[in-house]
Amino acid sequence: MDREVSQSEEMNERTFFMLKPDAVRRGLVERILQRLEDASLRMVAKQQLVVNKAQSGALYTEHEGKPFYDSLLTYIHSGPVIVTVWEGSGAVALVRKLIGATNPTDAASGTIRGDFGLAIDENVVHGSDSVQSAEREIPIFFPGLD
Ligand code: RTP
Ligand code: MG
Repeated sequence: MDREVSQSEEMNERTFFMLKPDAVRRGLVERILQRLEDASLRMVAKQQLVVNKAQSGALYTEHEGKPFYDSLLTYIHSGPVIVTVWEGSGAVALVRKLIGATNPTDAASGTIRGDFGLAIDENVVHGSDSVQSAEREIPIFFPGLD
């Protein structure tokens, strides 16, 4: 019984995925979303918005005080983003794999940042780094999501 429950939770694992302002500005949205669809993930929520200070502060709270924090927030506020939630087996780790390394210079070819990223401070997308992060991040942007 416990095993069935945990398998079902694993199948329905959710992650938060954001196309950052440079992805929207550069017209990369559909091509990037297609990569997650090709990996058999299911999109359960999607919205375009301009991130406000409460949202960016909550999303990047772990980086507060770091040297890149202010420029990270300026970048995230610099234009519309697309926020999404995806569901599927091992969704968190799978999306991180599809995204690639934080610095596009280090990201492997075939990953989103490897193929589209220009620099560490314009790295196209964000994905939750753990199930706990996903559970914290999703309600920042989708407070009413079931
Ligand atoms: P993200 O949260 O955006 O998905 O990125 P990540 O997990 O791969 O990397 P993280 O360590 O959480 O960093 C968050 C964002 O901060 C910027 N950053 N700049 N200049 C730097 O050394 C530096 N380090 C991180 C990046 O835009 C990164 O995505
Ligand atoms: Mg991160």
